[in-house]
Amino acid sequence: MKPRPTIREVARQANVSPTTVSHVINETRFVSEQLRQRVYQAMDDLGYRPNALARSLRQGETHTLGLILPDSANPFFAEIGRNIEASAFELGYSLILCNTEGDINREHIYVDLLIRKQVDGIIFVGTGDRSDSGDRSDPLGALFQRRLPVVVVDRDLPGIEVDAVLADNLKGGYMATRHLIDLGHRRIACISGPSHLTPSAYRVTGYRNAHHEAGLPVDHSLIQRGDFHPESGRIAASRLFELPDPPTAIFACNDLMAMGALHVAATNGCLVPDELSIIGFDDIELASFSFPPLTTISQPKKKMGEVAVQLLLERIQDKSRPVQRRILSPSLVLRQSTGGQEA
Ligand code: RIB
Repeated sequence: MKPRPTIREVARQANVSPTTVSHVINETRFVSEQLRQRVYQAMDDLGYRPNALARSLRQGETHTLGLILPDSANPFFAEIGRNIEASAFELGYSLILCNTEGDINREHIYVDLLIRKQVDGIIFVGTGDRSDSGDRSDPLGALFQRRLPVVVVDRDLPGIEVDAVLADNLKGGYMATRHLIDLGHRRIACISGPSHLTPSAYRVTGYRNAHHEAGLPVDHSLIQRGDFHPESGRIAASRLFELPDPPTAIFACNDLMAMGALHVAATNGCLVPDELSIIGFDDIELASFSFPPLTTISQPKKKMGEVAVQLLLERIQDKSRPVQRRILSPSLVLRQSTGGQEA
């Protein structure tokens, strides 16, 4: 295999100095159009390709960002990731996507990899299993110790001083439950996500707050735990169907679990929304295509992605700026899976 051409060979071919070739490649000094064309022609003739990583290291930035997600197969994260990639691309940055599958050991591995890849910054959605992030044993601790710019998205890290872009999950859980109460429901179940994840915990608190505000008792047998995957929604809804006094409405803390609940209703011949109302959370694209189309709480995924990239680039430019926290409001999307309940 022919050895890669060197910058000296390009210089000789173009009849200029190696320094001139370097200035043309790195645009570090003015070079006349005539000389530039000679250098580019020589590079084409020899098949020379500048070493982008070497140039990045010289310039101190790679224009590459890291994105760490806990479950890239979940449509919510797929859509958030797409929006982050689109925003980064518009601003001239490429992305390295890391999927941790909710495993903190993989999180460790990916954080080390991104540090070694010299990314300029990281957008981070954690697995949720935090130890003390102040110490190096925690993946985030390694990032903080290296002063690598980080923006946390979706899953807050309470007590840690870091830029964050979050949905107002407390408000979202309240809105979902208030909607069902306003429809006349009094036996409202909640299928939660993993309790150690802040988004789910806040949504369940919002569910409780709506009950308290309406003077309704919270029946703890109506709160079933899921894991944000559809199968857990199916299992939780099956348990609710077996209760002596089943609910007339279900608030699932994400759309995938709501799909699991819709599946149980369909297999039990239970009409949605005539006999059971179901509301989800996220507003993934599939929510419009379930049967019936899912009423849900929409997370502002596009804006979350845009703001996360904006905050990260601002942090890259100025590592000493004050920590920014953006809490974005969710919204109720009415479709056909919720309906009135006679008192
Ligand atoms: O669907 C996945 C869930 O986990 C979403 O609700 C999102 O908030 C994430 O935390």
